[in-house]
Amino acid sequence: MNLKNRSLITLRDFSREEILHILKTAADIKTRFKAGEVYHPLKGKMLAMIFQKPSLRTRVSFETGMYQLGGAAMYLGPSDIGLGKRESTEDIARVLSRQVDLIMARVFSHEIVEELALYSSIPVINGLSDFCHPCQALADLQTILERGKKPEGCKLAFIGDGNNVANSLVFGGLKLGMHVAVASPAGHQLRDDVRRWAQQDGGRSGGKLTLHLSPAEAAEKADVLYTDVWTSMGQEQEALSRKKDFAPYQINAALLKRAKPDAIVLHCLPAHYGEEITYEVGHGPQSAIFDEAENRLHAQKALMALVAGED
Ligand code: CP
Ligand code: NVA
Repeated sequence: MNLKNRSLITLRDFSREEILHILKTAADIKTRFKAGEVYHPLKGKMLAMIFQKPSLRTRVSFETGMYQLGGAAMYLGPSDIGLGKRESTEDIARVLSRQVDLIMARVFSHEIVEELALYSSIPVINGLSDFCHPCQALADLQTILERGKKPEGCKLAFIGDGNNVANSLVFGGLKLGMHVAVASPAGHQLRDDVRRWAQQDGGRSGGKLTLHLSPAEAAEKADVLYTDVWTSMGQEQEALSRKKDFAPYQINAALLKRAKPDAIVLHCLPAHYGEEITYEVGHGPQSAIFDEAENRLHAQKALMALVAGED
């Protein structure tokens, strides 16, 4: 399978086999790295990292990942390049394509990362947009698989906002044959186009999407409980009303009891303990959130090696 020069803007654009190939490569890369093997398929290559929003995991995992693969990464924050203000997205894409080998971008509007990919001659990786967070979903799927869960028929209950993280779990999860059950309050459910995609194309690998108002209903016999913050970056002005709307949408000990006894708990982080998840559950024995955070590194190393690596 050849993923050379491919961009990852959304997992919707990748086939089940391509996603499984990235996940298999990620597992291999993790094992070999932990055994001390040196692997430098990106020797001499540079990743430009565009950030319109803050980050811990994304920045650190991409920068560390490039270093471990033999390359280097450069941080371009909002005040460095003034994307869309000092210079157009198109020109930034064209210039970076002449100077570096790979672009990662964390943006407000999804159209920006699409435009970067349109005008770049090098791969562009979506490091989070208002529509999706595909690298997060890759790390999540890697974590689910390494915890011994078979994707076919595995039930993932997403409790909370029908946001970028939820969208990517729907795309990636359904492609692998999972049942993704999303519980959100009215007005914060998944976008219509994502629901339509799930209905029309999402079932091809045996996956399914169900929508719920009740967190308990979604969590029933789940293999994975997942949540994310109630207020995403860029929505800060809605924080107060969201706190009210989302109050019943919390992963806590009572909700965890609804899931299967061997269920795992995931959260993309950063977490607001006492809101979408209790500290007790987030740091409890069923939590895999720090394996999940670690897997951002391995999943993205696999992706970068596959799209930009030398054989
Ligand atoms: N999960 C995640 O993307 O974290 P950061 O926002 O810290 O990068
Ligand atoms: N939905 C969150 C994810 C953060 C990693 C946000 O967009 O802020």
